[in-house]
Amino acid sequence: MRILAIETSCDETAAAVVENGWRVLSNVIASSIEKHQITGGVVPEVAARAQVEYIIPVIDQALKKTFPRKSRKQQIAAIDAIAVTTEPGLVTSLIVGTETAKWLAYLWNKPLIPVNHIRGHVYANWLERDLKKDPIQFPVVSLSVSGGHNELFLIRTHDDWTLLGETHDDAAGEAFDKVARILGLGYPGGPEIEKLALCHSERPANRRGVEESLVFPRAWLNSNKPLKSWDGTSFDFSFSGLKSEVWREVARRSVGMTQKDKIIIAHAFQEAVFDVLVSKLIGAAKKYSAKEIHIAGGVSANKRFRALIRQHMKKEFCFATFRMPKKMIYCTDNAAMIGAAAYFSYNSPTR
Ligand code: KG4
Ligand code: ZN
Repeated sequence: MRILAIETSCDETAAAVVENGWRVLSNVIASSIEKHQITGGVVPEVAARAQVEYIIPVIDQALKKTFPRKSRKQQIAAIDAIAVTTEPGLVTSLIVGTETAKWLAYLWNKPLIPVNHIRGHVYANWLERDLKKDPIQFPVVSLSVSGGHNELFLIRTHDDWTLLGETHDDAAGEAFDKVARILGLGYPGGPEIEKLALCHSERPANRRGVEESLVFPRAWLNSNKPLKSWDGTSFDFSFSGLKSEVWREVARRSVGMTQKDKIIIAHAFQEAVFDVLVSKLIGAAKKYSAKEIHIAGGVSANKRFRALIRQHMKKEFCFATFRMPKKMIYCTDNAAMIGAAAYFSYNSPTR
C-alpha cells in the first residue's frame, strides 16, 4: 500500500510517499526556518503563509521523485491513500495541510487518513526497517521529545498505547530553545546547545575543554531516588524550573558573560535535561519489561542523549533493543513518519 503523506503542523511543509509503513519512496521537506531565525522562534502567521506557498510544489516533487517516469495520471493511480497530520500543532499551519489533503482525496477519490503528529514521531522508528527481516518487538517503551511535546508511551500493540508520562510545563526541546535564547544562541536551540556543550571537558570528546563544573537541580517530581524503585514514581516531566535556574545563573554571571560561561551553562543544562529523560525512560522500560526502547522527535537527534541512554542501559542491565530513527531527518518534523503511522492505523483490525 502506497500512501502520500502530508505534514504541516509547525514550520515545515512536508510530503512523502511511503510503502507498507516502512519503505520511503520520497521525502520532501521545505522549511521556513530562516524566517524564524530572525524572531528566535516560530511566528504562526509567518509559518502558515510560507506553507501556502510551498505546499503544492512540495507534493509535486514528492510524486515526481517517487515516479519519475510516470505521467501525473499514472502517479495518482499508483497512490492508494492520502494521510495528513490533523493535530496537535499550530492551527493556521495545520489548516494548510488538512485542506489540501481533503481536496486531493476528494478529487482523486482516495481514502483520507488523519494522523496525530506525536503518534507520527513515534512511527519514525519504523521507517526504513524491513519489517519482515527486522520486526519491531512489543512491548515498546517510546519517548517522543521535541519542541512542542514530551511524551513517554508504553506500546503493547499498534492499537494498545498507554501514556505513562508527559510534561507539566515546557517540552524538553522548548527548554533547549528558550535556554539558547537566554544564552544569545541561534534558533533552533537544541543543535546550538549540543555544539556548545561539546566544548566542555566533561565530554569525552574534549578532555582539554572548559573545566568548571556546574550542576543544575533535576525535577524528579515525586522522588529524589530515580533508580531505587519506579513504583510510586512519576514518569512525568517538568523543565520550566530548570529554565529559571539558567536565568538565575546567567544573572549571577551577567557582568561580562564570556564564551566560557556559556559553555559551562549549556553543558550543565543539557546534562540536567538528559539525566531526567534517560532515567525515566530506562526506569519505565524496566518496570514494564519492554523488549524495545525507542526515542523520537527533534531532541532524539542529540548525540549526547543517545550515548547516555546506551550508558544507562548498560549500568542498569537493561537488555532491550534500543532504536532511534534511522536518519537524522526522521527525528525532526517530516511527512514520511506520518505515512508510516497512517499505514498502521488504516490497517488496524479494530478500525
Ligand atoms: O520534532 P521537531 O522538529 O518539531 C516539533 O514537533 O516540535 O523538534 C524540534 C525541536 C526544537 O525544540 C529543537 O531545538 C529540538 O527539537 N532539537 C534538538 C536537537 N535538534 C533539534 N534538541 C537537542 N539536541 C539536538 N541536536
Ligand atoms: Zn514534531
